[in-house]
This record gives sequence, structure tokens and C-alpha cells, in this order.
Amino acid sequence: MSIPALAHYLDIESVTAEQFWGLLRLAKELKDARTRLGQNAPILAGKSLALVFQKPSLRTRVSFEMGMQQLGGYAFYISPQEVGLGTRESAPDVARVLSGYVDGIMARVFNHQHIIDLAEWGSVPVINGLSDFSHPCQALADILTIWEHVGTLTGLTVAYVGDGSNNVATSLIQAAGKVGMSIRVVAPQGYQPDRALVDQTDADITVTDDLDGVVGADVLYTDVWTSMGQEAETEERLKVFPPYQLNQQLLVHTRNPDVKVLHCLPAHRGEEITDDVADGAHSLLFPQAHNRLHAQKALLAHLMGGVPLQ
Ligand code: CP
Ligand code: NVA
Repeated sequence: MSIPALAHYLDIESVTAEQFWGLLRLAKELKDARTRLGQNAPILAGKSLALVFQKPSLRTRVSFEMGMQQLGGYAFYISPQEVGLGTRESAPDVARVLSGYVDGIMARVFNHQHIIDLAEWGSVPVINGLSDFSHPCQALADILTIWEHVGTLTGLTVAYVGDGSNNVATSLIQAAGKVGMSIRVVAPQGYQPDRALVDQTDADITVTDDLDGVVGADVLYTDVWTSMGQEAETEERLKVFPPYQLNQQLLVHTRNPDVKVLHCLPAHRGEEITDDVADGAHSLLFPQAHNRLHAQKALLAHLMGGVPLQ
């Protein structure tokens, strides 16, 4: 029996555990097919995807463009200067216009409400390519990477160290709950996850400002201390976060000789992560970045190509 289809991919909280597992399996299948055969079937022939960006990007832009191309479709980039979501034109108007031209919309925005509005007012699938609230495409690729490199998910413990209140932490917490992973958020006071998020998630979650929270972790995860749009707070954040740097000492403190290291990138090397850890034997940073492509191809094949989740 197939799993109920998704209409959009806005946040992991609105995806069931079986849908999330279905996306992971489809990503793996598409990745394996490309490795084995050198190409994927043209599932999205004749389909097009608009990539609406309010913020810069390397991974999200390129992996969506290449993902569409590898599935036989077409994607095009719209720069922050062009659309002016919520300034030049309202999100509901943008959604209704784009829906007459394209078969899907991927958007990277400041205000998460714009993602919700695009989905509500448009008539094509919408994918959240990062908002101030969440980064669900990243979390799908993160979980795929852990699955591939550890061989299992349920029962693992991920320790997220740094800004526990940001978009990447939020989606990781939500994703952990879908696959039965425990998550420990090790973050200074004032930068811990929202109480409502902690209460809502299915994940076994611990929130602490104590670095002992990493002891026994299977995966250590960090992200920048200052996210896009928070630049005015950089100085203040640089005073608070240094004890939470992902360095060799913290790695040893996990007391797990096989611990894996993840970072969504881009990294501010020398701040939240040291070079020796980012480039060391425990690091999965680049396989993780590459998995953005495979995870998103699953989303595209399902949302725009009608490929069922199984
Ligand atoms: N991790 C991530 O989303 O990278 P970009 O900002 O380069 O897209
Ligand atoms: N938290 C970071 C993630 C970048 C991919 C930001 O929002 O800037």
C-alpha cells in the first residue's frame, strides 16, 4: 500500500514519519540508480521549477538546478533583486502568477510566512529552501547522510552544538523525531530551541547549556553562530558562542571513537568549527552537502513527478 502523497514540503512537522521514511528511501533509490546507470529516468520531462531566492546560496541553488536537469526537467533562478517578495509584490500575487508558468516553486525567504502564503495561494507544489524558521531540505539530506554512513537511524543520538534556536536546529529536531533518533541540543541560554518546538516534537530531546551533553553522541552537528539576516548581532554572538566550538577537544569529549561530524555549510571555519575537525577523519561535511542533490531529487520526483512514496 502506498503512503499518502505530500502536496508541499514546507516543514518536517507536517510530514508523517512514514512519509519521511518514504522520501529517504526514494532518495536512496534515485542516488543508487544514478550511480549504477549513470543517469535517472526523465521523470520530470517538460516540467519546470522556479527558484525564488531572497538570500544567497551555493548548495540549494546548484543542487535544485542539477536535480531538475538530472530528472529531465528545467529550473531557473530568480535573484533577490527581482521578485521583491512582500515588497515589490505580495507573496499571494507572486504565487498565483508563478503557478501559471511553472510546475513547482522552491523559495528561500526571510519570513517563514511567505513560504506558507506561497503554498496557500499558488496551485503548484512549494518547497521551503530555507526560511528564518526552518530548513527542511537540509534535514532530509542530513538524515540521509547519517543513514548511509552509520547504517541505522533509530536509537542513535545526535548532539547539536551551537545556536539551538536557528532554522537548521529546528528542522534537525523535527527530523530526529520522525526517525526515532534522540537529540541533545547543547546551546547557551538565550539560544536554545523554542519551548513550543520542544513540546511538539516526537523526538526524545534534551536541551542543556552543559558541554557534557555531547558525551556518548553518535553524531556531532553544528552550524554558524550568526545566520543570514542576523548580521547586526554578530559581535554579541561572538562573545557568547566560543565555548561551543566544535573542535578536537569536544570530539574527544563524546568518548565515541566513531563519532560523525556534520555541518550544513557554509562554515565560518575557526568560529563554530575548526579546520582539523571539518577536514578530519570524522567529518561527513562533503558527502552531506552532496546529499542535498539526492534528497531534493526525491522531493521533486514525488511532488512534481507523481512518484509514490513507499
Ligand atoms: N546548506 C545550505 O543551504 O547551503 P546554501 O546556503 O549554500 O544553499
Ligand atoms: N543557519 C544558517 C544556515 C545556512 C544554510 C542560515 O540561516 O544562515
